[in-house]
Amino acid sequence: MSGILDGKIALITGGTGGIGKATCKRLTKMGAQVVSTYLGESKALEMREQMKEQGCNIAIYPCDVSDFDQCQALAESIQNDIGPVDIVVNNAGITRDTTMKKMTAEQWQAVINNNLNSVFNVTRAFIESMLERQTGRVVNISSINGQKGQFGQANYSAAKAGIHGFTMALAQEVARKGITVNTVSPGYIATEMVMAVPEEVRNQIIAQIPVGRLGKPEEIAALVGFLASEDAAFITGANFAANGGQHMH
Ligand code: CAA
Repeated sequence: MSGILDGKIALITGGTGGIGKATCKRLTKMGAQVVSTYLGESKALEMREQMKEQGCNIAIYPCDVSDFDQCQALAESIQNDIGPVDIVVNNAGITRDTTMKKMTAEQWQAVINNNLNSVFNVTRAFIESMLERQTGRVVNISSINGQKGQFGQANYSAAKAGIHGFTMALAQEVARKGITVNTVSPGYIATEMVMAVPEEVRNQIIAQIPVGRLGKPEEIAALVGFLASEDAAFITGANFAANGGQHMH
């Protein structure tokens, strides 16, 4: 595995979360120089230390990915400090679960801004350099709930479904320039985000997963690693489900 991404620079947004952390580790092990954005500094410093102990050197940058200008500044900093980014993994995301009749405008906007507008903000900041260099990988982390909808997640399901529309449109625009754009749609993975779902509701969800368990962050990271590699050059505009069989289409 080592060496497949040698010399590549990979940006992973939200690298302090469950899937983000596993993806940082996977891409580092594959040889990439990994850069992660963060919002909470103490969590990010702790994550960087943990990674260092495991032999992974991750660069961390503060960035609110829901803010267009901060993403522009991020791109400039990474370019100056490290070099041009070859791989962008749009992973940062939040939930504000509640039924529609209770959902506030703030809960709607927070999820759309953090989960969907962020994908535009970040990709927009790095795509021109990829086009100039005629190489690049964009991997967008969506969700099973963008594919099937979820009770209590009108905001999240809308944002996650929107991500794949973005993937398919951008994939067509950049295909001739050696850039691929794909979506990964994880099911319920054992992360803090899923553990925040009330236990009773979570157990009902697990009962609907044919594989019989939650997914592991590493199982998503492995798929992202493959899509980021040269071997995946003919795969673009695709949406990969990794959900233990919970939703098939
Ligand atoms: N389908 C149909 N009806 C449902 C339902 C469902 N899935 N879930 C609950 N209901 C019903 C309830 O039985 C209840 O009915 P009555 O009023 O007749 O008793 C009614 O809807 C109200 O439900 P709740 O009492 O549960 O409402 P609540 O406001 O307390 O909670 C909720 C709503 C916060 C959305 C809660 O149901 C919940 O947390 N659901 C889980 C949402 C979820 O899966 N989130 C995923 C987070 S992880 C993630 O997002 C990562 C990823 O990508 C997979």
